[in-house]
Amino acid sequence: MSDDIKKGLAGVIVDETAISKVNPETNSLLYRGYPVQQLAAQCTFEEVAYLLWHGELPTDDQLAEFEDHERANRHLDRVVKDAIDALPLTAHPMDVVRTAISVLGALDETLSSDRTWIDRDFTLQRSMRMLAKLPAIVAYAQRRRRRDGNPVEPRDDLGYSANFLHMVFGEVPEKVVVDAFDTSMTLYAEHSFNASTFTARVITSTLSDVYSAVTGAIGALKGPLHGGANEAVMHVLAEIGSADRAEAWLDQALAEKRKIMGFGHRVYKNGDSRVPTMRASLETLVAHYDRADMIELYEALEQAMDARKGIKPNLDYPSGPAYHLMGFDTEVFTPLFVAARITGWTAHVMEQLSANALIRPLSVYNGPDERRVPGA
Ligand code: ACO
Repeated sequence: MSDDIKKGLAGVIVDETAISKVNPETNSLLYRGYPVQQLAAQCTFEEVAYLLWHGELPTDDQLAEFEDHERANRHLDRVVKDAIDALPLTAHPMDVVRTAISVLGALDETLSSDRTWIDRDFTLQRSMRMLAKLPAIVAYAQRRRRRDGNPVEPRDDLGYSANFLHMVFGEVPEKVVVDAFDTSMTLYAEHSFNASTFTARVITSTLSDVYSAVTGAIGALKGPLHGGANEAVMHVLAEIGSADRAEAWLDQALAEKRKIMGFGHRVYKNGDSRVPTMRASLETLVAHYDRADMIELYEALEQAMDARKGIKPNLDYPSGPAYHLMGFDTEVFTPLFVAARITGWTAHVMEQLSANALIRPLSVYNGPDERRVPGA
């Protein structure tokens, strides 16, 4: 293969970004200059969303306005519910979410009447619409899958994360659970030019609209090498069952050349900067739900993987069991990632629009030489 080819674009720098900085040498992640660990500890997910979109943390007045806007946009249109209802109950929640976002785009009258509206203000307003409606979409996806009765209406007296949990479970859990969930949203919000964000930027580079960019990004996130790994982690932990079986399970899996979900990263080679924060939240949940067995299993596989391959966990490894303990169905773990990453994706859509160049790489042709069509 030609040395010019950078398979998987590994090591290729395709653009500049002011949104986040991933530094594998210092094992750090900054959103607009702020360490993500500090943001997770000090700020709500709403403040982090504001930061990613506007470049600065909000003042009290800006935050109040942002929250009002988010709360006012939470309800789902009947047409979106009808579109979801038309899908089979067995549809994967990621497919439900991808479809619902696409339907929101089709319902946007501005898009059908005037495509010149695709600018920063248009994108920001629509990004808020999607951010605010995603909890209702994800909650609906889990509730209908469980045949859990009617959708729960949003409560506008609750913050984003508390309302999200209320809509999924029909009640607001204890503060430790809301805080752990909010932390996961912040940690998942943004991560530079990952596969789904790059997908959103490619779509935007054609001057397509933000709904299309997010729909495509959801498709990219679904795969188990990316966001789908948080769901896959839970299947792995369930397959292993208990801590004492982790080593034997891993040896067998590696002998079969399986990729171990929740481990490894394209950029971080010495551990994912987000893991310690999410792991601390997982430990809080383990104590809250009295599930020491879960952390024992977590540690057993982590240690075995380190000993066998020297490969560290990524964010999906602690977030999978954390979402499980909170009570989410495994199939909605990746949709939760969507609900968080919509902030990063849309920040990148706005950044791409601000200095756009069509993204169109080259390839080396290795097919047949030129030949004649029979009869030509
Ligand atoms: N399990 C087993 N072996 C692994 C793993 C893993 N999870 N990750 C990397 N390796 C091995 C590879 O087999 C390869 O070994 P080799 O050189 O002997 O062939 C070596 O480590 C390098 O791995 P690559 O796949 O080349 O690394 P790459 O940067 O392309 O892949 C990726 C990164 C896709 C994330 C990979 O580590 C993986 O598949 N992990 C599991 C899926 C996962 O957890 N994805 C979540 C990513 S983070 C996120 O979305 C929040």
